[in-house]
Amino acid sequence: MKRALVPGTFDPITAGHLDVITRASQLVDEIIVGVAASPKKSPLFSLEERVALAREATKALPNVRVEPFDCLLVVFAEEIGANIVVKGLRAITDFEYEFQMTALNYQLNQAIETIFIMSPPQYMYLSSSIVREIACLHGDMDGFVPECVRAALEAKFA
Ligand code: COA
Repeated sequence: MKRALVPGTFDPITAGHLDVITRASQLVDEIIVGVAASPKKSPLFSLEERVALAREATKALPNVRVEPFDCLLVVFAEEIGANIVVKGLRAITDFEYEFQMTALNYQLNQAIETIFIMSPPQYMYLSSSIVREIACLHGDMDGFVPECVRAALEAKFA
């Protein structure tokens, strides 16, 4: 069975993340969406909230599971039996950071392969922080986030 890990902080999950998860789910048997605790990022949503939103947003995808993690990415991948890590690549600016992370993860565990899925043009400049900012300023989030996330953001910034 081919099992892949799609990791991220998902604060919150966006339409861009969903695009990557959906496309990855067509390539392997099972996807685990790993929601990182990422305390250094001081997330807006708690880990439990981020997991619940990601579960709701991916509920139509039968081979996708969402789990939290608070350890090294490669350790979590080993724990869940995933030897593929899938990341989204948006603009060229993502490349250097992803290159470094992939090289480090490869040093830590050479059995884990990282693959990248290019974002389509409409999601190239989307990020969780941009979505949080739009929500904070009561802007229109249509097309940027799944419905459950829109509702959760509106509640946070009511
Ligand atoms: N669509 C929309 N947004 C996307 C995206 C996509 N396809 N791909 C990335 N993004 C956004 C994310 O939302 C995030 O936005 P933000 O900074 O505004 O919150 C930003 O791009 C960066 O994404 P990413 O690089 O995936 O960072 P992340 O914080 O979401 O996840 C981890 C990073 C969790 C994968 C990484 O920190 C990690 O592996 N942590 C575990 C600890 C570890 O192993 N550390 C050492 C690694 S060598």
